[in-house]
Amino acid sequence: MRCLVTGGAGFIGSNLVDALLARGDGVTVVDDLSTGRLDNLGSALAAGAELVELDIRDREPLERAVAAAAPETIFHLAAQIDVRRSVADPAFDASINVGGTANLLEAARRAEVPRLVFASTGGAIYGEGDGRQLPLAETEPVAPLSPYGQSKQAGELYLSLYERLYGTSSVCLRLGNVYGPRQDPLGEAGVIAIFCGLLRSGGRPTVYGDGLQTRDYIYVGDVVSAMLAAAGSEVRGPVNVGTGVETDVLALVSALAELSGSAFEPRFAPPRTGEVQRITIDPARARAELDWRPETALAEGLELTLASL
Ligand SMILES: NC(=O)c1ccc[n+]([C@@H]2O[C@H](COP(=O)([O-])OP(=O)(O)OC[C@H]3O[C@@H](n4cnc5c(N)ncnc54)[C@H](O)[C@@H]3O)[C@@H](O)[C@H]2O)c1
Repeated sequence: MRCLVTGGAGFIGSNLVDALLARGDGVTVVDDLSTGRLDNLGSALAAGAELVELDIRDREPLERAVAAAAPETIFHLAAQIDVRRSVADPAFDASINVGGTANLLEAARRAEVPRLVFASTGGAIYGEGDGRQLPLAETEPVAPLSPYGQSKQAGELYLSLYERLYGTSSVCLRLGNVYGPRQDPLGEAGVIAIFCGLLRSGGRPTVYGDGLQTRDYIYVGDVVSAMLAAAGSEVRGPVNVGTGVETDVLALVSALAELSGSAFEPRFAPPRTGEVQRITIDPARARAELDWRPETALAEGLELTLASL
């Protein structure tokens, strides 16, 4: 199959690209390398993947790239992913996550691309889970608490609009908190990447508030298998890709300390405003309709992540 992966030089995208190549697909990566890295594509480029370096906000180059690749499936992962940056500059976030997505949909329509898989968010689209029946199903109301969550919801709505207007077949995977090899441990990355980086460099983890905030951590290999299953299915609309399991920050710290056999004493800092206190998402639809389930337990995933550093 011919595939195009936007954001393919990033953490999740490059893991997906490797899996597509391993099953014999032809792959074109579209990425502006803003947070993605050429390093992530080292083996993929050697195995025949093509990289087109462009910004998805630039409509014409994007249309040319999609037309030239003539993909059977587009995986749309390119995005502004930093929640705090989205709060500081909502219009910038929207320009990529909404404007860029609209550009991609137009390019896909013109090139008559039959199937789109969109990387949406399960962690930021539903809003606060505390006080609700967890894990949350796709039928739960969405109520994002950040411009990032809002722009992802807008992306989902554009996909469903294109389905109504033009019959473009698409599925929106609402990913939990993804972790694993190639996640950037610097800057505003996921907490597991940051903690693993600190563990390797002998640092101490900072825990904001009481450390009892929960998330639904999902290993990147499981996210990739969900993306492959979704691409090959007829399933439409939102699908949660998570474990349904709540894990708090203190549990992460002790799991990492246990795995490494070294002291990993947290430093406590004041709580961060605007953070969701509890969230976990129900993967029942993915199980029933994609025959997908998460296969990597947290301890195993943490071990694989640490080993990759
Ligand atoms: N990591 C998570 O926990 C998580 C959770 C839910 C959803 N997602 C979604 O999954 C996707 C991939 O996230 P990731 O964690 O791999 O992040 P990442 O930053 O590693 O990947 C994003 C990629 O998009 C590229 N990109 C950014 N802006 C671009 C633009 N304007 N034009 C072209 N390319 C651009 C970056 O260079 C990067 O390679 C994103 O859509 C993100 O919103 C991630």
